[in-house]
Amino acid sequence: MNEETETPPGSHRVFFALWPDDATRSAISRATRSAVQACAGRPIAKDRLHLTVAFLGDLTTTGLALLRSLPPIGGGPFELTLDALGVWPESRVLWLAPGNPPEALGNLEASLWDALAERGFRAEDRIYRPHVTLARRARAIEAAVEPVLWSVQDLALVESFPDGRNVHYEVLERRPL
Ligand code: 2AM
Repeated sequence: MNEETETPPGSHRVFFALWPDDATRSAISRATRSAVQACAGRPIAKDRLHLTVAFLGDLTTTGLALLRSLPPIGGGPFELTLDALGVWPESRVLWLAPGNPPEALGNLEASLWDALAERGFRAEDRIYRPHVTLARRARAIEAAVEPVLWSVQDLALVESFPDGRNVHYEVLERRPL
């Protein structure tokens, strides 16, 4: 599945993500501008930058309601340092990531999936690689990045809508950590 796949009628493509505030968004954009240019790919617009914690895929309205009834995940706010940048050759995604992800992020992902599993949701069978997608169809580049500090306060439930060749994201709710 990729972002450009049509969502089946009546279904909701949703995911949980860390959703940066405006200042963090600007900092990510500033720190990665030259890398985004150098990779010659299709940039992700600043207002769509995020870090996915759990991708659920296409859900029915009932499935979405079930998600909204999830109990608080907790764990508390934490700091992320985004200081690694690269291109995955298979997907040609230019990404920004925490080089050394804090334990709090791993714990959040695990607790979230525990709560989701209790409601019958299943994670895709692949390793979680926390990242912010910066551009698609990127060519390989070598670039350093000025670290971006991100103070994470909450977890967002986001719905993705097709928007021409792109997608449009809507934050459905923000859950304090
Ligand atoms: P990506 O940016 O690396 O593609 C919305 O699509 C968000 O969910 C994106 O952050 C995307 O990561 C992530 N995601 C995770 N698994 C996905 C999948 N199977 N299909 C589409 N997006 C996925």
